[in-house]
Amino acid sequence: MDIVNVDYDGLIPNNVDLSHDTRVKHALEKWHPGYIGWWHDMGPEGFQQSLVYLRTAVSVDAKGWAKFDYVRMPDYKWGILLAPQMAGRKIGFGAHKGEDAWQEVPGEYRAMLRRLIVIQGDTEPASVEQQRHLGKTAPSLYDMRNLFQVNVEEGRHLWAMVYLLQKYFGADGRQEAEELLQRRSGDADTPRMLGAFNEETPDWLSFFMFTYFTDRDGKMQLEALAQSGFDPLSRTTRFMLTEEAHHMFVGETGVGRIVERTCQAMREAGVDDPHDIARVRKLGVIDLPTLQKKANLHFALTLDLFGNEISTNAANAFHAGLKGRFREERIKDDHVLESGTYPVLRLVGGKIVNEDVPALSGLNMRLRDDYVADCNIGVGRWNAIIEKHGVPFKLKLPHVAFYRRIGEFAKIRTDVDGNILGDAEWERRKDEFLPSSADRDFIVSLMQPQYEPAKFAGWIAPPKVGIDNKPGDFEYVKIAA
Ligand SMILES: [Fe+2]
Ligand SMILES: [Fe+2]
Repeated sequence: MDIVNVDYDGLIPNNVDLSHDTRVKHALEKWHPGYIGWWHDMGPEGFQQSLVYLRTAVSVDAKGWAKFDYVRMPDYKWGILLAPQMAGRKIGFGAHKGEDAWQEVPGEYRAMLRRLIVIQGDTEPASVEQQRHLGKTAPSLYDMRNLFQVNVEEGRHLWAMVYLLQKYFGADGRQEAEELLQRRSGDADTPRMLGAFNEETPDWLSFFMFTYFTDRDGKMQLEALAQSGFDPLSRTTRFMLTEEAHHMFVGETGVGRIVERTCQAMREAGVDDPHDIARVRKLGVIDLPTLQKKANLHFALTLDLFGNEISTNAANAFHAGLKGRFREERIKDDHVLESGTYPVLRLVGGKIVNEDVPALSGLNMRLRDDYVADCNIGVGRWNAIIEKHGVPFKLKLPHVAFYRRIGEFAKIRTDVDGNILGDAEWERRKDEFLPSSADRDFIVSLMQPQYEPAKFAGWIAPPKVGIDNKPGDFEYVKIAA
């Protein structure tokens, strides 16, 4: 590819009139080779020449925004697409409530806004880096395709944030855009900015748990930014949410299909006790207690992404009109929050107690509570599968104080019900709550690739319907193309 004279009008679908925005077009052209270099170094390992049946965002039309076709990943068209501008949009909350939404960066909030964009931007390439080895152990071509779809879209989300930086933040924005390509998930010297994005994603169960729990944090953050008074950020994130829905679908149905397969295998073999781990594992499926432990881990790691229980940053961003609440427009209050309180779980005198704090200070927890409610919907669906098979087991989310590294509960250890444990007891019992190295080894032992169309690894059930309504034997990835 001629990296200097890239025709962005043709190569990058965009609805921001790039062809008439010479400055930004040039800035993106300069950034592009670094991005492609990053994709080759840190994107999916192998399969770069394979033909993958991917959807590409080509417009923001509610119905026709995506086009499905076979694409080699490096040729994917990472477009810059913003949801349509709403005429007369007003800022919906904070000190500027009722004023016209900003089309340019408000000078007094420049640094805060840039930071919000950079933090969001940093998570996008991080997850691609975390997931880069998974193609080699894909349980089916269907799943491999979904992995790569998520990966290219996280790449597009990076483009979305980089566009905002390049367009609205001048030299600092260019600098930040460069650094987004330099940090590396899990790197000792230049790690990604947030903890959960420096963890490994060593196997497909981790991938499904990640897309269920951690991409859902992404959804909540995007929902909060979609409320932003800075209109370009609002429009960008609103469109990103359209794609994000598929990522969570991949996670929810991925775990659901594992649950389904496990219960099926247990029933066929006449294993009634879900806690008889040895017998269940002999069937070549993942036992439900281990699924529970994986859920505990990923839920706890993701809760840390919501930050401190009491947060001045969150209060400031809301007050400034930059980051709102989940579905702000549906909330019935004054949207200013100068008065009023919000109940927050805190550690007081060595006990976990519910305390009312000023509503502005508790905004991270409000978003986290909305997140937990959203998480519980999928858990309910997984339990419905277990129940359908008559297996006596129920998955549940652990207590929010469990295994935390950030916030009030970072200094204590609890069991999954939130009972505080001493250090010795924690050490003795932690394998009850979190995957042990033996659990991890078992999961890894199952990760044998299945690359034949219509076939699935033995530990996961096929999906109910294909992507883009394709039939069951559809070849989602032509590996040797
Ligand atoms: Fe994303
Ligand atoms: Fe995502």
